[in-house]
Amino acid sequence: MKITAVHGSMRKGNTYALTKEILNRFSKTSDVEIIEICVADLNLPFCCSCHICFSKGEENCPHYDITHKVKDALANSDGVILSGTTYMWALNAAMKNFLDHFAYLFHRPEFFGKRGMIVATSAGTGEKNVAKYLKTVMGQWGINGAMIVTQNTKERKLMSNNAGLTAKYVKKIDNMAERFYSILKSKQQISPSLKNMAVHNSFRAMSLGEFAESKRDTQFWSREGFVDKSYPVKVGLFKSIIGTLVFSSVNNLAKFIGKSYIKN
Ligand SMILES: Cc1cc2nc3c(=O)[nH]c(=O)nc-3n(C[C@H](O)[C@H](O)[C@H](O)COP(=O)(O)O)c2cc1C
Repeated sequence: MKITAVHGSMRKGNTYALTKEILNRFSKTSDVEIIEICVADLNLPFCCSCHICFSKGEENCPHYDITHKVKDALANSDGVILSGTTYMWALNAAMKNFLDHFAYLFHRPEFFGKRGMIVATSAGTGEKNVAKYLKTVMGQWGINGAMIVTQNTKERKLMSNNAGLTAKYVKKIDNMAERFYSILKSKQQISPSLKNMAVHNSFRAMSLGEFAESKRDTQFWSREGFVDKSYPVKVGLFKSIIGTLVFSSVNNLAKFIGKSYIKN
């Protein structure tokens, strides 16, 4: 099994250390291969807002020579770990810029069935906002039910003493890594949140015909066989009904707007 971890901070500081604590557990397991990507090492320019990934495809991105290697690593992984830190109660800009380069995956989600983990730190407050945002991103990529590990300075102080990490903290990290490993091993499908279900079905509706933002989206949804399903992995009846309702509402709205537009 492969796990790709994206280290989102510009320095090898608190977020990196916490992510490494978790990764060290997996490196002791012979059937796990770990790939690490440091955003700081990528020298990735800012997303320049050309929108070409949406309209013509991600391979036309001016930074594709950098992004395609990352994308391949993520696509070939069973598990994905995204880490980020808190700047002014939000995700740090370097990691946000990294994620912006994969915004097309909101339109054309490809990562169904992968498992996710999120690591976020702060000095005191805001790490939960960051974790929540990263979880939303993963959900839109198709990675459901990501596990969350957060830590702030106070917790960091509590978790170590002169002898190193406290036994309680070591146990916490051990449990977390064990849980992630067992989720990775079990091929059990994880159901999306209602929010992800609704957004997925909005994009599903928007992928259709002349109302699609781009032919690229239309081709993708049809080629993947996603148009006929309320969600690509198994979901319960309630979520399926919500998905279908959102799909038909957005579809009808798109038709209405399209017709009015043509009339005028
Ligand atoms: C520009 C900047 C803004 C920050 N904003 C916050 C903040 O809003 N809330 C907070 O608790 N910590 C804030 N911090 C502290 C960092 O989130 C904290 O030290 C974090 O663990 C650093 O992660 P790193 O060591 O992986 O770089 C900020 C730090 C910087 C450099």
